[in-house]
Formats: sequence, structure tokens, C-alpha cells
Amino acid sequence: MAPWTTYLQVFFCVALLFFMIPIKIDGPDEVELQFLDYLEKFHKTYDGDMYQSKLQAFKKSLDNINALNSNKTGDSAVYGLTKFSDMLPEEFLNKHLHLNLCQRFIPHSNTHHHHHHDKRSTLPQKIDWREKKVVTKVHNQGNCGACWAYSVVETIESMYGIKTQTTEDLSVQEIIDCAGNNNDGCNGGDVCSLLSWMKMTNFTIHKKSDYGKNSHCGKVSAKGVQVQDFVCDRLVGSENVMMKLLVGIGPLAVAVNAQTWQNYIGGVIEYHCDGDVSSLNHAVQIVGYDLTAQIPHYIVRNTWGEDWGDGGYLYIAVDKNMCGVANEVSAVTVL
Ligand SMILES: *[C@@H]1O[C@H](CO)[C@@H](O)[C@H](O)[C@H]1NC(C)=O
Ligand SMILES: *[C@@H]1O[C@H](CO)[C@@H](O)[C@H](O)[C@H]1NC(C)=O
Repeated sequence: MAPWTTYLQVFFCVALLFFMIPIKIDGPDEVELQFLDYLEKFHKTYDGDMYQSKLQAFKKSLDNINALNSNKTGDSAVYGLTKFSDMLPEEFLNKHLHLNLCQRFIPHSNTHHHHHHDKRSTLPQKIDWREKKVVTKVHNQGNCGACWAYSVVETIESMYGIKTQTTEDLSVQEIIDCAGNNNDGCNGGDVCSLLSWMKMTNFTIHKKSDYGKNSHCGKVSAKGVQVQDFVCDRLVGSENVMMKLLVGIGPLAVAVNAQTWQNYIGGVIEYHCDGDVSSLNHAVQIVGYDLTAQIPHYIVRNTWGEDWGDGGYLYIAVDKNMCGVANEVSAVTVL
């Protein structure tokens, strides 16, 4: 064989190699490497189709995170990867939030009061009920859509703490098992309808340790706590009143829109969190506010575990009905 054909063969082989190599090393791209890092960091494993769909959801989260961070200034909220970042927004909404939370919402108030003369200047600059040791530890509701029960029970715990100087974990499970008034356990419910049911029936909620896991709303002989009275008000445009309730009564249970919290990792939410009453899908407890901060905000306890947000907490700017915090505001007193 003439040497030049050998050269030509070698040339073709080498050329082919150059064509082949890019195909052969076409493994994970940069985003997929980030996804693999994420899976390792959050101790998740997926196979086959699940892997592919989680990768797509992860990409969507990265896009959303970039958009949410795009106009961040100072202490405003930061978004990044969380334990929920491998879910599509719709999936997150269905699994961890409840869009129908407030469809039966009727603002009602037991105590008729006039809000119009409440002035900011008479309020302290700052209050944090955690410092008074009346806030229990951060809960994790898991896949149970009982935010409505958690936020109310947490607020009753705090009010019981203010009254007796002791903090007790009360049984959220008891409320999930027993509550009437259209409340539907892990499938959703409403803060205001729970409070009015508790008051109407003189319901006694018991300590977590006194209510067995399999009690199924059976009788508990131990002493417990009852709702004495409550307010459930729409305070959009009157957030001074929210602050006044926080100072004068105690922590509050509020309905919120938590869709963008999927990828929240810290800072004060002051943009990108629609407050329309039709967007409410979650309920949380407000444990204080800080008007001295660069961005004046509420201190909010969530129920997604301590490994979410800032140790389980988040911060929401005041006076903007941000995330809908002022649509359905409840304060409680206990017996
Ligand atoms: C951030 O974006 C929101 C909505 O797109 C807008 O209302 C707000 O003014 C922006 N803030 C800054 C600091 O650019
Ligand atoms: C609840 O307690 C109040 C005050 O003690 C009482 O007047 C009312 O009848 C009770 N309601 C029920 C349903 O037991």
C-alpha cells in the first residue's frame, strides 16, 4: 500500500476522533453538574424519568431565582437553592400550599374596635416575642396541609406563655383530628373558621404530650387551653393596627401567599410577593416587627422546619401588604 494512503487513513481516523470526542464526552453540562451538587448537598437521589423531571424543575428554579434576585438591594430578600428547589412551582403549590385556603374567608371580628386613630408614633420601634420566651421551636408540617392549624396552635401557645410564663407544646394533631367548621385536616382549612369553631364549642386544646398520636379526637382528661376571644380582621392599609395588636396582645396568625418562598434563603421580602386575597395559600405566625432595620419588617415564623429560610424564619416588609400578610390577621386571647 502506498504510504500516502496510510497517511490518509491516519488523517481520517484522527479527524473522526475529533468528531467523535465531543459526542463521547457529552456528559452533564454546567447546569446538570450544579444539579448533581444540589442532590448531594440535600441528600436526594433520583433515577430514570424522575431524575429528568427533577432536573427540569431544578432548571426552572434557577431561572426563578435569577429573576427574583435581579433587583435585590441592601437587605432585601435573597433567593437560592432550598430543599424545595427540585419542584416545579405548580408542584410546590399543590404539595406544600393550598390555593383554596381562603375561598371561604369571611372577615369577622368579635371585638368591635375602631382602627382609624392608631398612630405609628405611639408604638415601640421593635418587638420580638422570642426574646420573652413565649415562642416554641420551629415546626415542620411536612406534606400535611395544616398550616391553618399550626399557625393558630402556635399563637395559642404564645398566648398561654404570656399568661402563665411557661411555654408548652400544644397538640396540632388534636386540632387536625377534631376541628369542624369546614376545616379538613391535612387537606386544608382556615385560621378564622378554626378560631370561631374553637370559641363557639369552648374547645380545649391539650399539651402535645397529653394527646396521644392515635387518639383520633378521643377524650383527654388532662387540663388544657381554650380560646377566650379572638379578632380576625382585614387590615390592608392599616398595618399600624397589626403592629398594635402585636404589641398589645401578642403574636398573630396570618394568611399569606408563600409561592415565592419556595426558594427564599434570607433577607427582607419587599418585592415579588403578590398580596392579593385570591393568592393566599398558606398561614404563618408573626412573632414581632423591627422598624429600626434598614428595611422595616415583620419577623415571621414558618412551619417548614429549621432547615428552611433563616433558621425556619423569614422577614416581610411592613406597610405593603407584602405576600398578603394584612388580608386575614388573627389575634387570640386564651383561658
Ligand atoms: C424590583 O422589581 C419590582 C417588580 O418588577 C419593582 O416593582 C421594583 O420597583 C423593583 N425594585 C428596584 C429596586 O428596582
Ligand atoms: C361555652 O362557654 C360559655 C361560657 O362558659 C357558655 O356560656 C356556653 O354555653 C358554652 N358553649 C358551649 C357550646 O358549651
